[in-house]
Parts: sequence; C-alpha cells; structure tokens
Amino acid sequence: MAFGDYQNEIYFNGLRGVVPTLPVSFDELEARAQTAMPPSVWSYVAGGAGNERTQRANVTAFDHWGLIPRMFVGAAQRDLSVELFGMTLLAPVFMAPIGVIGLCSQDGHGDLATARAAARTGVPMVASTLMVDPLEDVAAEFGDTPGFFQLYTPTDRDLAASLVERAERAGYRGIVVTLDTWVTGWRPRDLSTGNFPQLRGHCLANYFSDPVFLKSLAKSPAEDPQSAILRWIQVFGNPLTWEDLPWLRSLTKLPLIVKGISHPDDARRARDGGVDGIYCSNHGGRQANGGIPAIDLLSEVVAVAEGLPVLFDSGIRSGADIIKALALGATAVGIGRPYAYGLALGGADGITHVLRTLLAEADLIMAVDGYPTLADLTPDALRRVR
Ligand SMILES: Cc1cc2nc3c(=O)[nH]c(=O)nc-3n(C[C@H](O)[C@H](O)[C@H](O)COP(=O)(O)O)c2cc1C
Repeated sequence: MAFGDYQNEIYFNGLRGVVPTLPVSFDELEARAQTAMPPSVWSYVAGGAGNERTQRANVTAFDHWGLIPRMFVGAAQRDLSVELFGMTLLAPVFMAPIGVIGLCSQDGHGDLATARAAARTGVPMVASTLMVDPLEDVAAEFGDTPGFFQLYTPTDRDLAASLVERAERAGYRGIVVTLDTWVTGWRPRDLSTGNFPQLRGHCLANYFSDPVFLKSLAKSPAEDPQSAILRWIQVFGNPLTWEDLPWLRSLTKLPLIVKGISHPDDARRARDGGVDGIYCSNHGGRQANGGIPAIDLLSEVVAVAEGLPVLFDSGIRSGADIIKALALGATAVGIGRPYAYGLALGGADGITHVLRTLLAEADLIMAVDGYPTLADLTPDALRRVR
C-alpha cells in the first residue's frame, strides 16, 4: 500500500459519516496536544532556548524553499524506501529521541507506546537515554522495526560502556551520541516554573536499572531517591572533546552516529574519526538560541559527508518539509515534537496517525510533483523563494 492511500481511507470513512478524531494539520495537533498535556510537560516539550527565535526559525526556514513540479512523469508508483546502515527502511523517516516522551502519554509509559508505533509503522524510534521504562523493555516492543539507542554520554566511562552494551544486547541497531546537551540550554519557559523533570526523578529508568550506576550508590534508588538523583546530576553531562571520539568509537561495533553536527568542519572531522553517520540538528532550538535554522546548514554538511548517511531533524512539521530535507541531501529525516503531540492525544494510535499523515503528504507530493523515487529528489527540485 502506498503511504498516500491514507487519504483514501479517510475519505471513504467520510462517506460513512466518520471523520478523523485526531488532527490532520500540525497547527490543530499542537493546539489540541496542549490541552491534553499537564502544563509542566507541555512547556517542557513545546519550549526552547531563549526567546525561541531559533526554534521558530527552524520551522519557518522551510518556507524559504519551494519545490518545482515536473510533468509527464507518470509517478503512479513511488518508492520511498531507503538503505540505512545495511537495513532497508520503508521510508526515509525516523522518530527523533525525545527524553520525556515517557511522560507525554496519558498512561505515563510513552517510551513503550512509541516503540509500539515504530513496530506498527516501520518508522524507527531513536530511543533517548532518558526513559521512563528501561531500554530493554522498550526494545522488546519494536517488533520487526529496527531501533536506535541515543546516548547521553555520562562522565563515568564505565557507565557509558554499560549503557551501550545493554543497548547492543537488547537488539538496538545503532548508537546515536548526542553532543549538544552535556549542559541544559537556557530555557525561560522551564525556568519560570522551576521545572526540570529529571531533577524530580522522572525518566531516569536507564540509570536506576544499570548495574554500574547502582554500584555507585550506597542505597538503592527506591530506598533513597534523593541520593540517586544527586548521583545522576554528577554523571549526566560529559563535555566531550575530539579526543574522546576514538573512545566512543571503540565502545561499539554498531553504527555510530553523532547528533548535533551543524558545521561542515565538524562533519568532516567526525567522518575522519570513523563515525558511520552524521546527524545534522540543532536540537529543535532547545539548546542554544541565536542560531541558524538547521535546514540552512544541511547542504554544507551533506557536501562534506562524502556519502556517509546524513540524518536530519529540527523543524519538520509536514510531509513537504520531509521532501525538502531529502532534496537538500538528508538520507533520513527525524520527526520530533509532532509525534510527541500525537502520543499525548492518542497513545501509540496517535503517533501512528501522525506518522501516517506526514508520510501520506510526502508520498502525494512526490506523486503530484513528479518525483517518483528518492534519487529524483535532488537540490534541482528546489528553488529559493524570494
Ligand atoms: C521534549 C524534547 C526532549 C528531547 N530530548 C532529547 C533527548 O533526550 N536526546 C536527544 O538527542 N534529543 C532530544 N530532543 C531533540 C530531538 O531529538 C530533536 O532534535 C528535536 O525535537 C527536533 O526539533 P523539532 O521537534 O522542533 O522538529 C528532545 C526534543 C524535545 C522536544
């Protein structure tokens, strides 16, 4: 079945008087998610760094690119499948790591719901280090869809190695090391409510279930949660330097992907350091304000990647955005906040709906605009909008 056929399903249901219960447009999705989430979770998810200019610019920058339709192509069949690290994905899309995704579902087990949506849709989940449920339980829900583990590299190298080993054993198919979040960026929405979920003990299951972490505690997290959280604060953020890359590389034979790369020189150096993939992202504008929209840096990163896969996220809100990022050279595109909102509204069904709407729109743009395969989506398909 083509992704675009989701619209037939919706229209045929409409003939029976059944209209979608979940939003089809992003604006409605966001507005309804706000009402479905506790205010502290909403502001943590929706908020970003500083006055959120970078966060907004990530989104609006897509409007500065326009796709050119091509005719007489007959793009009746589209192929969105992609080879990534030796795996074949149905579509060049994945779910970006979201640390508090666990808290976004009504039952408080959003990591599990996300993994179930991955199993259902074939869209991989990149599971954050910051989970409500341990990484093993999450991986058990992936079904046949590959999953990736995102590592926040702790200061304790043995703990880092332990987390990676656990991810390997649990069947994750790649390790995504996030480089831009060893310290939390300045986030006025969270600051004004004094809200930081992890300090309240949320989303720390991977630490509290880790043998290396537990060995460093005098009492178990159940007996003495405060000391466990304090220990977490000590080990969480490691300000890595290039000298650490060989060690990171040595931690795993799985594909190693570095997240947060925006400068072409960093992309080049990471490539030379033996990574398997570059993940171009500015963390959705949550970490540093005053930046350039991530999409405007993608081409430069792709140019130096020399064929290494380039993953991209930050600002994807529609199928059109996915197509533009692919045309600018992304190998696969990460969905962030939209799936968190789908989860808040409808659990695994809500995520599945959001992913299907994004993929349907992407597929139908490829049909209408005459770009039947991903290989047809090149910078030539785009023009800068003045
Ligand atoms: C609430 C929230 C939590 C996040 N947690 C993580 C995380 O744990 N690890 C990580 O690498 N990125 C994290 N990110 C960043 C996302 O992976 C991704 O880069 C970002 O959401 C893309 O921006 P967008 O959602 O505006 O498209 C988080 C993003 C949000 C919104």
